[in-house]
Amino acid sequence: MDKNIVLIGFMGTGKSSVGLKLAEKLKMKFVDMDREIEKVTGMSVSQLFRKYGEIRFRSEERLMAQKLGQQSNLVIATGGGVVLEDENIQLLRENGIMICLEASPADILARVSRKKGSRPLLKRDIKIEDIENMLQAREHLYSCTTHRVNTSDKDLYTVVSDIQKIIKQLESK
Ligand code: S3P
Repeated sequence: MDKNIVLIGFMGTGKSSVGLKLAEKLKMKFVDMDREIEKVTGMSVSQLFRKYGEIRFRSEERLMAQKLGQQSNLVIATGGGVVLEDENIQLLRENGIMICLEASPADILARVSRKKGSRPLLKRDIKIEDIENMLQAREHLYSCTTHRVNTSDKDLYTVVSDIQKIIKQLESK
């Protein structure tokens, strides 16, 4: 595989855990965009938002999309908001297969609630309606790819195997 595999999707859809497992399976390098931004800036995503605001975070995110889009053979877990800027999608798509992970609002809520405080866009007492509203507002952005994999009610291995099937199909075309 030469192209990157780029996982997009809302917060809590499993991009990081699925990406790590997928990379292991395909013997590719795994890169988590948020963690890379943290390395470059020396701050956690939450600190970055708190100290410099979302605009600064989005600008770091764009630089990271530029950098990673020029590389190959990576499994990239993006941050949920990477789709907010069309330029990011163009940059990552240039050398990448885009796969969108999905999950039910209830699953998303359960997953993000486990890591309270690490996602600056979600308030601590977040409700399922808030998730539904945000999902609805972003839905048209996640549809930048037709390759979609649901991660609700499935174990990690099934999700990884679903993605592998998509990749095989694309390679045989
Ligand atoms: C964001 C998602 C987060 C992180 C930042 C903004 C978003 O990543 O990039 O808090 O706008 O959806 P995860 O999707 O990994 O939580």
